[in-house]
Amino acid sequence: MQFGRTTLSKFVIEHTRGQHSEMGALLIDVAAAVKTISAMVGKGALSGFSGLAEAINVQGEEQKKIDVMANEAILRHCEWGGQLAGMASEELDVPYAIPEGYPRGRYLLVFDPLDGSSNSDVNVSVGSIFSILMRPEAGDAETADYLQPGTEQIAAGYAIYGPATMFVLTVGSGTHGFTLDRESGNFILTHPDIRVPEDTREFAINTSNERFWEPPVQRYVAECKAGKTGVRGADFNMRWIASMVAEVHRILMRGGIFMYPKDNKDPAKPGRLRLLYEANPMAMLVEQAGGAASTGRVRILDVAPDALHQRVPVILGSKNEVERVERYHHEHDAGTDRPFVSPLFSDRSLFRETA
Ligand code: F6P
Repeated sequence: MQFGRTTLSKFVIEHTRGQHSEMGALLIDVAAAVKTISAMVGKGALSGFSGLAEAINVQGEEQKKIDVMANEAILRHCEWGGQLAGMASEELDVPYAIPEGYPRGRYLLVFDPLDGSSNSDVNVSVGSIFSILMRPEAGDAETADYLQPGTEQIAAGYAIYGPATMFVLTVGSGTHGFTLDRESGNFILTHPDIRVPEDTREFAINTSNERFWEPPVQRYVAECKAGKTGVRGADFNMRWIASMVAEVHRILMRGGIFMYPKDNKDPAKPGRLRLLYEANPMAMLVEQAGGAASTGRVRILDVAPDALHQRVPVILGSKNEVERVERYHHEHDAGTDRPFVSPLFSDRSLFRETA
């Protein structure tokens, strides 16, 4: 029985009173879309949405039917309410204009409707990620309105469709988790004020890319793998689900570090993950929970976007580990990570010490 427990609607109304009360209504629509997607994903092969949609999205990735359906669910649930000036989605080349006949608002909703969807046909957790920005006035948004650094986000969150469906949200005052009670249809606050431990012995990275990484990431991972016998003096464990939402959720629950770093696999791409609807919302959630999020060189939330679907390197999670990886990047850039070897005093030098 859930009487007396805090529902997502109650939480949102209480936490968006005043300046952002209209955003409260928008968040409730986002949650309705998430319940629709949760029901579709939860049906698995019975939904009729397995397999490819036979289309390629703007990222050059094959769209799955479930990607298209999840995108539709968010657009339809959120377009009508009068809070939005527009929406941008991973699945759409250009921003979505609010249809004629619906009122316009000041908020911008940016989202990845189904992240990690390569996992959907194998019954592994997937999720939806969203970020809310604002433009100065109500009206029809243009692409330039969306190109704001993550520090400007008013709210961010994700839904994870796992054994349980959860909605994890920040409106700038902590990160809070809600679990879907499938019987009542309510999201119930089950994880108030989530905190990410500052230290961890668990890392997540796709090591098949190791040969393409930059030296600071190779150094960090080599040290983790060396375990007790290496410079870290401790054994580390590795995880890779290939679903960013599931990875970030694990980190929010018990700490860890997640990396999709810069690599030279495709020099045209500075990273794999998208800044506006993957990196920024996750960075805000993790920072609000006491963790850190960096490109390796700068704080993710400080990156000024220049394109809607811009990619960025992502290193996020337990603060002390993220700061260590950042330090390795700075040492590498300054050249101080390589032991100094003077040609005058090296093995072949005239001044070589003799026994
Ligand atoms: O598009 C994003 C994503 O699916 C993330 O959810 C996940 O972390 C990553 O890509 C998986 O990448 P890879 O295919 O290299 O394992």
